[in-house]
Amino acid sequence: LTAFKNMLSSKVKMVAITHISNSLGTINPIAEMIDLAHQNNIPILVDGAQSVAHYPIDLQALEVDFFTFSGHKLFGPTGIGILYGKKQYLSEMQPYQFGGDMIKNVTFEETTFADAPQRFEAGTTNMSMN
Ligand SMILES: Cc1ncc(COP(=O)(O)O)c(C=O)c1O
Repeated sequence: LTAFKNMLSSKVKMVAITHISNSLGTINPIAEMIDLAHQNNIPILVDGAQSVAHYPIDLQALEVDFFTFSGHKLFGPTGIGILYGKKQYLSEMQPYQFGGDMIKNVTFEETTFADAPQRFEAGTTNMSMN
């Protein structure tokens, strides 16, 4: 934790850390790391690909800003995954792909995007599953 603490400075815009390393098996103390990042006003993303199937993860209790994992690590299908994000960040983030139902309104003057998470779901909607 000391090395982690020493890396947090005003130059750091965001922290991304794995919960459990897939190569070394290291289990990071994410609750403490999240607290430290927040003490420095730095948003933090935790990669839970290896941990989500083995630990109960309470995202709200952890107060983590972003959390990711892939479906197949939870014995689900390949090709899908989860990106959890706090509403405050998702609402501020601009879409990076455009089209389909991610648009709320378009005029010649202005385009407004749907609220998160819909604003990140560009393209044809998954209508066969709706
Ligand atoms: C910690 C961690 N992050 C990310 C990944 C990559 O996930 P995916 O297999 O869905 O690309 C893995 C895969 O082993 C992983 O262990």
